[in-house]
Amino acid sequence: MHDFRNDPRFQGVESFDKKVWLASPTMHGEEQEWVDDAIRTNWVSTVGANINEIEKQIAEYVGVRYAVALSAGTASLHLATKLAGEKLYGQARPYEGTLQGRKVFCSDVTFDASINPVAYEDGDAVFIDTETDTWNMDPAALEKAFELYPDTRLIVLAHLYGTPGKMNEIRRIAKAHGALIVEDAAESLGAKYLLDGGWAETGALGDYNCISFNGNKIITGSAGGMFLTDSKEDADKVRKWSTQSREAAPWYQHEEIGYNYRMSNIIAGVIRGQIPHLDEHIAQKKAVWERYEKGLSDLPVRMNPWDRERSLPNFWLSCCLIDEAAMAPQVRGEQDYLFTSVSGKSSPQEILDALAAFNAEGRPVWKPMHMQPIYRTHAFITAEGSGRGRSNAYIAGTGADVGADLFRRGLCLPSDNKMTPEQQDRIIDIIHRCFQ
Ligand SMILES: Cc1ncc(COP(=O)(O)O)c(C=O)c1O
Repeated sequence: MHDFRNDPRFQGVESFDKKVWLASPTMHGEEQEWVDDAIRTNWVSTVGANINEIEKQIAEYVGVRYAVALSAGTASLHLATKLAGEKLYGQARPYEGTLQGRKVFCSDVTFDASINPVAYEDGDAVFIDTETDTWNMDPAALEKAFELYPDTRLIVLAHLYGTPGKMNEIRRIAKAHGALIVEDAAESLGAKYLLDGGWAETGALGDYNCISFNGNKIITGSAGGMFLTDSKEDADKVRKWSTQSREAAPWYQHEEIGYNYRMSNIIAGVIRGQIPHLDEHIAQKKAVWERYEKGLSDLPVRMNPWDRERSLPNFWLSCCLIDEAAMAPQVRGEQDYLFTSVSGKSSPQEILDALAAFNAEGRPVWKPMHMQPIYRTHAFITAEGSGRGRSNAYIAGTGADVGADLFRRGLCLPSDNKMTPEQQDRIIDIIHRCFQ
């Protein structure tokens, strides 16, 4: 590990007394009152006023008719994916997934929770490359995937770091091919998108929509997630599945496989106290992104981009991408890495280690799913066709792989909404010193 504290480039830089986090929970006090209310009234299980209230409030905020509170965003994604599979291919045997052997087009640069449910349901994830305008699923690569696998009927799409993807194009492509969309808005609650001329919220843009209240998200319940839909039938089905699929009999009677995925009324109390602060958190995150954009503008880096005409992100994470010409050597193994310092250049691993040395937390851009050992045998489609095996020992040049490039040159900066401008100035200073 490089000794940044004794590196002359960092002379005079003071370590943060309290760690500056990538994204940590922000409690306001109301959370305690609603949790206390649940305990005082003895409604501490998976039924209660907090659950009812947050389902109503989130449905209203996002602009959908129904919301089902669940134990995690992952639970929501699982049931959304299963519901899509059942709609497309019918009910599966108890020991089989609804997507058995079926291809599903998936976001590539995302957290694995977005797309693992495809495997839970025995489906075959095909990873779709990323575009450079918003760092989300590339519509051109999606079109190419439908050319290669025309029978595919399901798309699982995430909005990375709170920045909406190109939903007009993706919804148009899905419609043209009769495909359904599972929308993973776990990172993007509160982000808006200009959908065919009218503003809409992420979480309302797919056929089955999911959000998360994980501890690092824009608002949190300490854990939790929600399934969002305009269909009463789908909402009822997800609620039933999430509470062990009980039939209307006096005894435990089951005609479908069940899950224990419902949210507790205590967790819902935390979320109930957070919802009034959602817009305030978004404003704080936006200010963080804008201060980075200004503070890093003289460096050979660019901030994570967004479509300024058609979207308004929630700015959950601020990221930067180092220009190719300013990349210092950096190599990564499966679990380790090496970098060298070069004057005028830097690398994500150098910056992340420098930040860590002074007690601030960043993270590499999410490693693309097609590069993950578990998914290496799965197809990966770029705008040019298959992204696998593109190099040729006898011909120079290889095809583009946008996700791999973002992972190599990009990093997530400390983006905590409680970070002060003074703390952020110090982080910006540390990043400048990396390029000295
Ligand atoms: C894009 C994305 N999808 C899904 C999840 C899973 O949500 P949860 O942690 O609530 O299960 C997360 C984060 O945790 C995420 O970032």
